[in-house]
Amino acid sequence: MPDETPAFGGPMSDATDATIESVLQEQRVFAPQPGSGSDSRVPSLEAYRALAARAEADPDRFWGDLAREQLHWFEPFHTVLDWSNPPFARWFEGGTTNLSYNCLDRHLEGPRADRTALIWEGEPGDERRFTYRELHAEVCRAALALRALGVGKGDLVALYMPMVPEAAIAMLACARIGAPHSVVFGGFSSEALRDRLIDGEARLVITADGGYRKDTAVPLKPAVDAALADGSCPTVQHVLVVRRTGAAVTMAEGRDIWWDELVPQQSSDCPAEPMASEDLLFVLYTSGSTGKPKGVVHTTAGYNLWAHLTFQWIFDIRDDDIHWCTADVGWITGHSYIVYGPLSNGATTVMYEGAPRPGKPGAFWELIEKHRITILYTAPTAIRAFMKGGRTVPDSYDMSSLRLLGTVGEPINPEAWMWYREVIGGNRCPIVDTWWQTETGGVMISPLPAATPTKPGSATLPLPGIAADVVDHDGVSQPADQGGYLVVRRPWPGMMRTVHGDPERFRRSYWEEIRPADGSWIYFAGDGARRDADGYFWVMGRVDDVINVSGHRLGTMEIESALVSHPAVAEAAVVGRPDDLKGEGIVAFVTVESGRQGDDDLAADLRRHVGREIGPIARPDEIRFSDALPKTRSGKIMRRILRALAAGQQIQGDTSTLEDRSVLDQLRGES
Ligand code: PRX
Repeated sequence: MPDETPAFGGPMSDATDATIESVLQEQRVFAPQPGSGSDSRVPSLEAYRALAARAEADPDRFWGDLAREQLHWFEPFHTVLDWSNPPFARWFEGGTTNLSYNCLDRHLEGPRADRTALIWEGEPGDERRFTYRELHAEVCRAALALRALGVGKGDLVALYMPMVPEAAIAMLACARIGAPHSVVFGGFSSEALRDRLIDGEARLVITADGGYRKDTAVPLKPAVDAALADGSCPTVQHVLVVRRTGAAVTMAEGRDIWWDELVPQQSSDCPAEPMASEDLLFVLYTSGSTGKPKGVVHTTAGYNLWAHLTFQWIFDIRDDDIHWCTADVGWITGHSYIVYGPLSNGATTVMYEGAPRPGKPGAFWELIEKHRITILYTAPTAIRAFMKGGRTVPDSYDMSSLRLLGTVGEPINPEAWMWYREVIGGNRCPIVDTWWQTETGGVMISPLPAATPTKPGSATLPLPGIAADVVDHDGVSQPADQGGYLVVRRPWPGMMRTVHGDPERFRRSYWEEIRPADGSWIYFAGDGARRDADGYFWVMGRVDDVINVSGHRLGTMEIESALVSHPAVAEAAVVGRPDDLKGEGIVAFVTVESGRQGDDDLAADLRRHVGREIGPIARPDEIRFSDALPKTRSGKIMRRILRALAAGQQIQGDTSTLEDRSVLDQLRGES
């Protein structure tokens, strides 16, 4: 009997029929950026192919040369890659380096020192700028403040921050003294924060009184207080609090310290700690298809090289670029492309606290006009929302400074891609659709703007050295236009090293689903894809029980656990359904405890409850109540059926294994 919840969750076809259809019909091809060839890092398709061939012929030499050229080393490494204990890779063994040094100190000699490193735009309209010299001084002060609070090499520091410069400064300060950071998105609840503090055994939490979201000041510090209440995180000794909104907060005597009372009095000279290549750099939690979120572990040198190189290649970075990535620093995109990639390259990075909203629909375009931004890197969800609003607003701003557009986080539909190109890019700017994950550290599949012809909706080709493939369950490469699992066949420097505190889970989650007959180790990312006759990748979305809501990754099981922790809920099953704006929406099927009524009031209460347990992004869009869930006789929930019901589609395929067929009729109704 087929397992209704196989390891790879849903059948590939049901999430993405519409996408596949448009992909197969997509004929448009756009040439690489005209005239940019001569001063580009990778100036032509031939140059790309030559680089890829060099990497293929001798990967160790390829990565070793790049690591030596592109990073500063206190001590050189002696081994490029140790893959003797797969899937646990060790890169650049014997070397010592420091990410904060690579992002700051090495730019201080020469004219780059006085170049703007960070432009920050606050939501109420305030603005701050830091040159490399100034940012270096701030980071040194923050690093010494951490030390003054007893944080040393190897002590984990959690950040629960709004989008203020201190978030980036704190990250760099941690890296400077070798204290791994764990950034927790400021939109997560105190419960989610507590889980992450406990799992990471955090020593210190850096937060703020609050932050601005759209037009309102939202509190943050109370969530930290709640997470730490009743001694539930005994490892946390101090909380360092940035003053942002001026909201009244409770400061616990002896535990809580204001940033502005401690950091400014420190010296601006704090040498960067030489770190071994494989020393823990940061942990970042992300959702999987089972259990609680995984702490993805990245280490010092490999991550640094990957953020650095990918930023340079993909954005073809030049000295006068002003780069704006619209992500939050709480996600990997913010880590790699607001903070580390741009700064490691000595570029100017923009950080924005706010978001477009009804009262300010032109917020993004205003920022581009004001700062003469040259590269915009955002998510398809945002593009689709702008598209819905029409072109009048963007057309009223001068966006002639833009030369390159990027997208990340979810598949982009060809219509949104074309709109982005025409309306925002004035038909002038190439689009880089970048496929990657928290686990990969940086981009893996993407066009290079001067080299790769693009097709709307395709992430195009793997970066040089990335052995991406589309395979079947046995790891066999699939022919052109045949769907399969998106995998990577060889280690790369930016790969995650393990799941924090759970190496077995790392092996199980990423390396065991697909085991080829030859015994080689293949990294399986959880996505489905196909490759066309030109070798271009078309990523179709997750094939496991992970849903992607507005580019945010959520495990269905996490939401189900949150739902069943409510006293009225007996059982819950959560699935994604296609959503024009958000990519996917969340639908929860719920059975209630006897004596409880599944009505609108309870639905509203459950949505609030999930918001409290995880965060507002995880609130179901729709909750459907029924007396039972569709299950096989062996008791497995038939998610295939729930996905079809949620999407309002016909139920295809065999339902003969369903235990109680009357359940289907009930589930068709809405609460
Ligand atoms: O499903 C893929 C989707 O986002 C997932 C990774 O999510 P996360 O770790 O949160 O990182 C998001 C930012 C890198 C992937 O498994 N995804 C990301 N980029 C793309 C994408 N799907 C299609 N096209 C993309 N360009």
